Amino acid sequence: KKGDPENMLEALSGLPTQCQDAMQRARAVNISFAADFKNILVTGLGGSAIGGDFLRVYGYRKCTLPILVNRDYNLPSFVNEQTLVLAVSYSGNTEETLSAYEEAKLKKAPIVALTSGGQLAERAKKDGIPLILIPSGLQPRAATGYLFLPLLVVLEKLSLLSDIAAEIEETIAGLADLSKAISAQVPTENNPAKQLALRFYNKIPVIWGVAGTTETVAMRWKGQINENSKALAYFNVLPELNHNEIVGTEVPEKFLRELEVVFLRTEDDHPRVQKRFDITKEIIGERVGGISEVWGDGKNPLARMFALTYLGDCTSAYLALLYGIDPSPVKLITLLKNKLA
Ligand code: PA5
Repeated sequence: KKGDPENMLEALSGLPTQCQDAMQRARAVNISFAADFKNILVTGLGGSAIGGDFLRVYGYRKCTLPILVNRDYNLPSFVNEQTLVLAVSYSGNTEETLSAYEEAKLKKAPIVALTSGGQLAERAKKDGIPLILIPSGLQPRAATGYLFLPLLVVLEKLSLLSDIAAEIEETIAGLADLSKAISAQVPTENNPAKQLALRFYNKIPVIWGVAGTTETVAMRWKGQINENSKALAYFNVLPELNHNEIVGTEVPEKFLRELEVVFLRTEDDHPRVQKRFDITKEIIGERVGGISEVWGDGKNPLARMFALTYLGDCTSAYLALLYGIDPSPVKLITLLKNKLA
């Protein structure tokens, strides 16, 4: 039931099934434009923007057009009729996204809307804009399958991405396998998500990923710990953090003792980055409260990225349970939106 801590865990662990449904829904929508696209812009906020970040990272390897994510009322000035604008809002009522949608219309950019309803669905229907409708009733951060996979399908339909079907199938199969290993029924000694939650309990999680591979995953872990576990968490990426944050670990050791550092690693990371992980661990390992690494396993880069995402999602829900709180409500976001209304 809604408001039950188990409900968020259940919603998050439904990711493999959600991905299947998301693919079907997106494939059923007719999307074609005459435009000669020069760039792609995903516009959205919070849980609805993260799909754009996954797309951006995925696109490094697979898409020849630049992909940008916009989290604002306004659009960047390069947006024009050769920009594919993907307007994403789970609720369909986020004011920044609606404002960006209107601006995209004024700039005559081809738009696709992805939402569960609200104003965005209404406006897209009225404006004759392709609309991918996803089920309502979830928290946006538990709807990542719905908020990311349709974006891949749109790009495939517009021939901006190709040969993605096998990769997606392998990714979904990998998630289904992982769900057996991290489900609530699996005891802590065999459950990596529960073990991670215990490491984070009463500590400040610091998640370090890698530019171009796990950067969005690291950001996602941080966001999920904030929103689900109602706890502070921080993230950064290699190699950049080797040029600043590492120096910050010269603070007195009593502060470092509060930190639980987790490296998110995959075989896709640059060999020099692999080496940087090892050296960084050597330099700070003795002084921080805890340090460990988690490897994303899977048959392809997308599968590896999503395996880590799924693990982080479930970890954040288990951490909420350890703190004895309901992961679902985001009281402070609601309060802020109400004050703005
Ligand atoms: O996870 C959340 O609830 C938030 O981050 C929302 O995604 C954010 O406030 C934007 O709302 P929406 O996703 O409905 O556009």
